[in-house]
Amino acid sequence: MPSITTRHFLQTAGTLVAGLLLAACSKQEPATPAASAPATPAPAARIYVVGTDAAYAPFESQNEKGEIVGFDIEVVQAAAQKAGMDVKFLNTPWEGIFNSLGQGDRDLLVSSITITDERKQTMDFSTPYFDAQQLIAVKKDSKIASFDDLKKLKVGVQNGTTGDEVITKLQGKDSANVKRFESTPLALKELEGGGVDAVVADNGVVVHYVNNNANAQFKTISDASFKAEQYGIAVKKGNADLLEKINKGLAAIKTDGSYDRIYAKYFGAAPAAAATK
Ligand code: ARG
Repeated sequence: MPSITTRHFLQTAGTLVAGLLLAACSKQEPATPAASAPATPAPAARIYVVGTDAAYAPFESQNEKGEIVGFDIEVVQAAAQKAGMDVKFLNTPWEGIFNSLGQGDRDLLVSSITITDERKQTMDFSTPYFDAQQLIAVKKDSKIASFDDLKKLKVGVQNGTTGDEVITKLQGKDSANVKRFESTPLALKELEGGGVDAVVADNGVVVHYVNNNANAQFKTISDASFKAEQYGIAVKKGNADLLEKINKGLAAIKTDGSYDRIYAKYFGAAPAAAATK
């Protein structure tokens, strides 16, 4: 009897140990985070970093709290939301903005960037989201009446912008009269102080500055020679996935009326009427 009992005990114990071992082994297998957390949380959503030179009201600027705000910002936020993307904006000086995209420090750029053939060689652009044109700012009492009048005068521009391009073409690339500034507001300040005779920059920004700085005593001059420009959101060349996402988002906000609402908030009119100013 005792021997049977012992055998039984050993058998039972052996089975138990084997069972425990098996259980332990099978537990080991899926010992991944999923197994320890049955309600698997969704993987942390990717946040796309958007670079913008936030010294370009009303398109992108910093408010008193240091937050980046403006038309471009709201357009990208709305489009991103439609595309199911999380975005955050980082103030990025114009000087290095295209490099930051090329190096992967920024996923997207929104900065009133005119789509040009030259830029298209090094980056890809979304469908256009805004129509623009160059505009000349001068002092109210200035005799300047056309773009051609600027041929031999001192003209302020933001370095590397389409405004820089047009005046450089007019004056020649060795002209010492093209004064290039880090930002458009700096160029306009210089005009206020009399350091330059005119500033050439995007119409929306010039109009906004003139309207909000009455004591600067500026007037604006448009010129038929200025070509139509269109703003696009830039992605790194070849980033087709991201481009498709943002284009889908843009299309969605254009059809559901949210683009028009943002437009009216900043420019007070329907896009069709205001875009061609
Ligand atoms: N549209 C012009 C360009 O592409 C000027 C853009 C400047 N944008 C800015 N946020 N500073 O050259």
